[in-house]
Amino acid sequence: MIKKGLSYDDVLLAPQYSEIESRADINIGIDMGHDLELSLPILASPMDTVSESSMAIAMQKAGGAAVIHRYNTIEEQARQISIAKTMCSDKYGYRVNIGAAIGVSGDYLERAQALRAQHVAFVCIDVAHGHHILMKKALHELRKVVGENLHIMAGNIATLAGINDLSDWGADSVRCNIGGGSICSTRVKTGHGIPGLQTILDCAKTDRNVKIIADGGIRTSGDIVKALAAGADAVMCGSLLAGTDEAPGDVYQDLDGSRWKSYRGMASKEAQLKWRGRYNSQEGVATRIPYRGPIEDILRDIEAGVRSGFSYSGAIDMKSLHSRAQFMLQTQSGLSESHTHIVGRKW
Ligand code: XMP
Repeated sequence: MIKKGLSYDDVLLAPQYSEIESRADINIGIDMGHDLELSLPILASPMDTVSESSMAIAMQKAGGAAVIHRYNTIEEQARQISIAKTMCSDKYGYRVNIGAAIGVSGDYLERAQALRAQHVAFVCIDVAHGHHILMKKALHELRKVVGENLHIMAGNIATLAGINDLSDWGADSVRCNIGGGSICSTRVKTGHGIPGLQTILDCAKTDRNVKIIADGGIRTSGDIVKALAAGADAVMCGSLLAGTDEAPGDVYQDLDGSRWKSYRGMASKEAQLKWRGRYNSQEGVATRIPYRGPIEDILRDIEAGVRSGFSYSGAIDMKSLHSRAQFMLQTQSGLSESHTHIVGRKW
């Protein structure tokens, strides 16, 4: 039998009786384990048009964290972390919620050592197909290099078997979803992937002590609430945070006055050419997205939507959202009704 796979637009959450009098009382934070705590469960993607020092500072200030991308030299990556740290050191003066990405081959252990020396809060093993023997070997070796106490994030995977294996191999949190991001073309190119919400519903069945990160395909605060309600502990976003002042890259202006920034998949031809001077399988695209100003306003708006979402489910914190959430399927007419539908109406 062929299994069905649900995506974010296929469902809604049923509003429930709530005793929460103020949304300010809701705790949307999460303890990710191994000393990584987020008061806002949002991570910025390790992408060269999303996460460098400015994004790391902004995300840390908002209560989330950014993962500094790895498409640079070890020295450049360390420099980005060092810049971000000088502006927002924690009360101990050395450790802040900044993560950084490494691969599974080449200089990855050397990179990990450099990151550890920078006192990053977590290291993220960042590969497209994480349910793989190279991930198993990398997790094994990495733990020896970073010691028992550093949080290790890994991914991406799309199945229960994937999250269980990565957890058994030593990951503390796992990025779940393959090919569901806004700039991804993996599913079209390879025929593989599982719709984003289904991935979280499946991975949430894990009996391991591992945190679930819903990565990619998150377009709105409503999608964040759905991902968390399905069992994710945090979400990872690229397009939602790109196009802001804090994302790397220049702001361009067209003749009609519209302003934009670049946003691209790390497996796009453009990104591959920039970071390794050649390209092979292109599984992402490069595009432009509207310039959106300071990220602070955007994050405030997202946080308000997420708090409101918890409140509609009557959930005071993440644990209660996970247990109370009631999904229902919506039809195509339901989806049309769910979006504002005044424009284009025939009067
Ligand atoms: P959003 O939807 O937030 O997605 O823009 C960001 C996530 O997309 C993943 N990513 C890629 N996936 N090809 C892919 O198939 C790529 O080129 C690519 N670049 C990024 C990644 O998980 C990120 O967090």
